[in-house]
Amino acid sequence: CSSRHYCQKQLKNLSVRDALSSEALGSHIRIQGWVRSVRSQKEHLFLHVNDGTCLQPLQVVASSDLQDRGLTFGSAIDVTGSLEKSPSKKQNVELHARHIEVTGACDPIEFPFKIKERHLMEYTRQFPHLRCRTNTFSALLRIRSEATSAIQSFFKDNGFTQIHTPVITSNDCEGAGDLFQVEPARRDKQQQQQQEEEEEGNPHFFSVPTYLTVSGQLHLEVMAGAFPAVYTFGPTFRAENSQSRRHLAEFYMVEAEIAFTESLEDVMRVMENLFKASTEHLLTHCAEDVELFHKYVTPGHRGQVDLMLSRKFNVISYTEAIDILNRSSQTFTFPTEWGCDLQTEHEKYLVKHCGNVPVFVTDYPYDLKPFYARDNQDRPQHTAAAVDLLVPGVGELCGGSLREERLDLLRNRLAQAGLEDAYKWYLQLREFGSVPHGGFGMGFERYLQCILGVDNIKDVIPFPRFSHSCLL
Ligand code: 4AD
Ligand code: MG
Repeated sequence: CSSRHYCQKQLKNLSVRDALSSEALGSHIRIQGWVRSVRSQKEHLFLHVNDGTCLQPLQVVASSDLQDRGLTFGSAIDVTGSLEKSPSKKQNVELHARHIEVTGACDPIEFPFKIKERHLMEYTRQFPHLRCRTNTFSALLRIRSEATSAIQSFFKDNGFTQIHTPVITSNDCEGAGDLFQVEPARRDKQQQQQQEEEEEGNPHFFSVPTYLTVSGQLHLEVMAGAFPAVYTFGPTFRAENSQSRRHLAEFYMVEAEIAFTESLEDVMRVMENLFKASTEHLLTHCAEDVELFHKYVTPGHRGQVDLMLSRKFNVISYTEAIDILNRSSQTFTFPTEWGCDLQTEHEKYLVKHCGNVPVFVTDYPYDLKPFYARDNQDRPQHTAAAVDLLVPGVGELCGGSLREERLDLLRNRLAQAGLEDAYKWYLQLREFGSVPHGGFGMGFERYLQCILGVDNIKDVIPFPRFSHSCLL
């Protein structure tokens, strides 16, 4: 520190966010962050500095003598000085620097982001190790963090217990493909030989084939045999060979399971309330960051969000959905007869048809749904008590169902699929104190896409993983 007078005063270490709150006005403070812009005038150098704690930068006023000291765009700096009222209308406070140290220099020519330029998301995506330095991605990460808290609070406020479901599992939940297998990496021949000897003929580390989880549902169903309501929120993995704008190989899923319910409406109510409560929380607690997306990324998207919040979500049956699609004048690439799976193009059409308000599609053909979906036992159009929530811009956001709690029906279905032995434990849940229950899963990244109007799912997750891409 350059001044004795300055050293005598107590130094407060502040984040940019706290410095901007003006509470420390008149204090001697220290901030550490990254230079966002540099402007030099005759006697003064004006730097904008941020540190990821908020969107707005803090203006630092320094002597122009410091001009050639490496205070470039992107450099990391450590500043001490006094926090003063700013004469400019653009900010309330500014930091009058006494001492600035360049912690980490940055060559602005080589740095992939340019000062005051709004880069396209496709461009910043190429730099997963640096894009957190951009305003847009930094805002996204704060929103992600706040949305996580909002979701946790929602469940806590509504009597749900959080369960940490495993990442490695020996069940495949959805009953079909798309799994990543888990085995130890064998680095060299000697290691491999040693391992094989230890395994005594069993090729699997856990003695059974194991996978990265595609869903925590079955583990939550276990817990719904002991708790009234449970949820989990963690990473899920699907080996989908897709480059689509709404699929990832690793994504976060929020899943809930409710015991003692015989009604799909109960499950749908939790989905709708979760969506609305989390979104309202974000609009209040992350207003500036959310506004950045609604202003610059998808202008006008705020109107869409307000519409979703103000309306009750629509409910139509799968059979009605097929009628709507068949009556439409639009030509679809995929067929729309009863029994077909709904494709993205169908989902988007249905949401538009419902006035761009989210829509629940219920009671899908029984044969389209996994073994755990509850049989509606209706004929001739045999359906299951399953529901998808479709939302504007994204299509399917949530998938859920009532679960088959009747032992004989479940056993028959598993036997038909040749899965009776593998799911003995699951059948036991129905033998010992079985209760009617149901639940759903919501894709966290798709939720963020829907609220922020982000077109590509790869731009709402810190480190996207998809087929042929695992940078970092
Ligand atoms: O519809 P899904 O496959 O449902 C299940 O996994 C149920 N077992 C959940 C449950 O009932 N507990 O997946 C749920 C949601 C989808 O609606 C979608 O939003 C998201 O997870 N999702 C994906 N998000 C990104 N990338 C992918 N590859 C996704 N696959 C599903
Ligand atoms: Mg689904």
